[in-house]
Amino acid sequence: MTNAFVAQSLDEIRFWSRIMKEHSLFLRLGFRCEDTQLIQEANQFYRLFEDIEQRSHSFTNQTDPEQMRRFNSEVQQAATGIFAFKRKILGLILTCQLPGSNNFPLLVDHTSREANYFRKRLIELNEGKLKPLADAIIKENVFFLRIMADHAQFIGHLLDPSERKLVDMARNFSHDFDQLVFQARDLESMKPQSQTVPLLDQFLDQNRVSVASLRDFKKTARDLIEECRIKSIIHPLLADHVFREAERFLHIIDMFEKNLQTQK
Ligand SMILES: [Fe+2]
Ligand SMILES: [Fe+2]
Repeated sequence: MTNAFVAQSLDEIRFWSRIMKEHSLFLRLGFRCEDTQLIQEANQFYRLFEDIEQRSHSFTNQTDPEQMRRFNSEVQQAATGIFAFKRKILGLILTCQLPGSNNFPLLVDHTSREANYFRKRLIELNEGKLKPLADAIIKENVFFLRIMADHAQFIGHLLDPSERKLVDMARNFSHDFDQLVFQARDLESMKPQSQTVPLLDQFLDQNRVSVASLRDFKKTARDLIEECRIKSIIHPLLADHVFREAERFLHIIDMFEKNLQTQK
């Protein structure tokens, strides 16, 4: 049990600290040159999460659980810090105090939701509170489907408008995922009656198909951007970043699927 706690903590921290580090970079790239204070704050968060990421690789599954617990709460504070920073930026943008900056409000909100997810995962791990499987399945899917829907929107908006074919594809994904988000919310509102094994199983199957094809689209886009074959203002690292988040969602779906089989 304690080993599983350490392994799960390390898995979350290694994945999400790299994500948080990259968010700091994306936000910084979107600021105007005169926003030196914000640029400095973003750089501090970059270094903070880079340090956390490096330290997490010095831990192993044999690490003392007590030491892991302390590291989790330290990382949770860092995640809370970057969450507050992102919400502050969102406030500045929405009150038109950063005219001409290149961070979309939805992107800032999106990255803040990911920070909040990360800090909540760490709190759950430290409190040893595991959600019942059926609750976890619906909650994680509602969260990640919306994240995927946002990604499709971002890609559609950051591709050059002259890339008409790709923009169309991104728009179709965006529509597809909006529908899946609504379906997931419907299933959530029908809880607990909706939490039958066949319904949850079908829910996961349907989501997996769409996430796998979005993942492939992101992979293609990433490769095309890296090879400079398409016109866009998408940073190659951002293309890879959203690809990795789709991969993670797929792994989570597979894990749920496996656990659900044992309940049949
Ligand atoms: Fe992200
Ligand atoms: Fe994301």
